Amino acid sequence: MGFNFVSTFEHLNVGVTFIKLSVLHIPTVGGMIEVEGLVKKFGSKVAVNGISFTVHDGEIYGLLGPNGSGKSTTMKILSGILRPTRGRVLVGGINVAKDPIRVKEIVGYVPETPVLYESLTPSELFNFVGGIRGIPKDKLEDRVNYFVRAFEIEEYLEQFIGTLSFGTQQKVSLITALLHDPKILVMDESMNGLDPKSARILRELLIEFKRQGKSIVFSTHVLPLAEMICDRVGVIYQGNIIAEGTIEELKSKAHEENLEDVFLKLTESKDEVYNIVQALKEAL
Ligand SMILES: Nc1ncnc2c1ncn2[C@@H]1O[C@H](COP(=O)(O)OP(=O)(O)O)[C@@H](O)[C@H]1O
Ligand SMILES: [Mg+2]
Repeated sequence: MGFNFVSTFEHLNVGVTFIKLSVLHIPTVGGMIEVEGLVKKFGSKVAVNGISFTVHDGEIYGLLGPNGSGKSTTMKILSGILRPTRGRVLVGGINVAKDPIRVKEIVGYVPETPVLYESLTPSELFNFVGGIRGIPKDKLEDRVNYFVRAFEIEEYLEQFIGTLSFGTQQKVSLITALLHDPKILVMDESMNGLDPKSARILRELLIEFKRQGKSIVFSTHVLPLAEMICDRVGVIYQGNIIAEGTIEELKSKAHEENLEDVFLKLTESKDEVYNIVQALKEAL
């Protein structure tokens, strides 16, 4: 994916240093995001089964897990979109069950599939969202210009969103989430549609975001990407967090060389994948 590995490691070091510092200076009021015993049921279906995790200021936390493991449900709860069934979720000190509106004010949520108004243009959408969020006109203009240039979507600003490619829609969705200068960014599989250059730009942006002490929760299937940008990850499987730590910690715990092997091992898919690959090899 055309990433610069030297700068990647610099960035990882920033993360590791931060974690060490945060251990030395144990915060008295907890992290930016505190999830304790979170349960979410849809009818009798248990989507999230009592998970707990903390995301500190200036930290990028990755939520990794196979399809249907509860990532999107958790992220919607963190963003004030879904109510928890049980458990305590504090986002920037605000209880999501009690004050979801205030949570929405400080969170930028980028959904798995861009939810946009197809018959608006990106320009119209940005103005619309800016209006709803009460962003002053000149500030909105500056932020739109900045992100539009960063993601190189100038030429699409006046086209209907419905006619844009998935990747461009994802960029529009991302910009929409960033307009109100959120303290916390919740990104659900939102880098998957981006070309390598845009993914790189986004990565730089996330790193700047965390330098400002903001927090990011990030879910992805692209494990090398998680390995590059996350300070810590939680592996979620069937609604439970089954492992958590820095990438290095997970690798050493699982005695595996890379995150993909760790992930497959933890989700019990390693043998299954091996068998499928063997069967494929035999079939070819
Ligand atoms: N609105 C809903 N109604 C019923 N079941 C749901 C709903 N949303 C998610 N689920 C179920 O909850 C589980 C977790 O889903 P989700 O959080 O979307 O997982 P992931 O994002 O990890 O793929 C899945 O089994 C899914 O089918
Ligand atoms: Mg999902």
